[in-house]
Amino acid sequence: MQLTPEEQAMLDGKSGKATQKAMQILVALGTIYEAERLIPITSVQVAGVSYDNLGEAGLQFLEELLAGGASTQVLTTLNPAGMDIENWRSLGIDEEFARNQMKVIDIFKRIGIIPTCTCTPYYCGNLPQFGQHIAWAESSAVCYANSVIGARTNREGGPGALAAALTGRTPNYGFHLSENRKPGLIVNVEADTLLTEVINTQWFGALGKAIGKKLESISNTPVPLIRGISHATGEAMKSFCASLATYGGSALFYMEGITPEASQFDPPQESIMISAEDIQSAIASLNDTESSKIDFVSLGCPHLSITEIARVAQLLNGKRVKKEFWITTSRPVKQLADLAGYSQIIEGSGAKIAADTCCVVAPIKGRFHGMVTDSAKACFYAQGKHRFRTVFKPFDDVILEALQD
Ligand code: F3S
Repeated sequence: MQLTPEEQAMLDGKSGKATQKAMQILVALGTIYEAERLIPITSVQVAGVSYDNLGEAGLQFLEELLAGGASTQVLTTLNPAGMDIENWRSLGIDEEFARNQMKVIDIFKRIGIIPTCTCTPYYCGNLPQFGQHIAWAESSAVCYANSVIGARTNREGGPGALAAALTGRTPNYGFHLSENRKPGLIVNVEADTLLTEVINTQWFGALGKAIGKKLESISNTPVPLIRGISHATGEAMKSFCASLATYGGSALFYMEGITPEASQFDPPQESIMISAEDIQSAIASLNDTESSKIDFVSLGCPHLSITEIARVAQLLNGKRVKKEFWITTSRPVKQLADLAGYSQIIEGSGAKIAADTCCVVAPIKGRFHGMVTDSAKACFYAQGKHRFRTVFKPFDDVILEALQD
């Protein structure tokens, strides 16, 4: 790989140990993926924040980077942590976990990373422009950045994203290159979304699972060009991205008439079809318990937008929830909800706005039996990681479920 004199100096340790380590990671990645050079990036999203995932070894790695003079070179934001940084006690998080989680957040802050603690950085000041090169971790955000925004990023791992943040560069391969962004398969969707739902995140999550499962079975997972969707809100796209990335491993798709880059390529020859039955069977597959077994209600995977929080407040106004109900979002969006008076309404109902965290990265394995959610991605991890059973419902119905005995 060809390095500039400045990059070579970083690799030689002239900018300190942490930068040298970061450059070593980038050169190793670039060599594996046959990148010819590094390219400058405009922003980074770092994942691997929850102490539940990092553990002691991860914390030690971060401490070493900090001691080696680590310092971010571009705008860098952070994925969700394992708890609400302010209200962790109300979520039932134990003291020791909280202490370790705060150490992690503190190191990231001292490195210069903004502790947004969200998987929706695009709602919190990390909003790239079309065509910009970025280095993001977090599969749902990567898919959103590439597809909905038209920025360019690979699906970075934790160390790759961190190394990009410390150097302002990433290896030029994969989705940074136009030739790898060409669509390879047309997906004709023959079932349009229900126009009557205010927020149709569940339907788009099911669509993501239906398409993802078909893509997964094709070698060298092609970039899909999706046809037949007449409209989609930003929230629907957020849900679709999370699901498509979870079930299909996709980091880029095009949706005709909706995503910005869709018309820039010649359409591929091959096509598949997704029917209304495919979507119904995706929905059915995410329901593996009865409503009567639900003891945990979760919205906010990916983190809720202010529009979604407004809807939660509207449906909970003047009512009391009967079950543990977490509404997960970023702290900046929670602050908007505070300003608008939504938080007061929601918390007045007994529901909990859990900022900085989510139902997947929080240490809640085995704590509940049945979870209801509108998120196809959350169902996947609740079943696999936390051993919960799941009920998968439309957004409004999830809220109504919280009000039932
Ligand atoms: Fe975000 Fe957690 Fe879901 S990181 S996409 S809310 S699993």
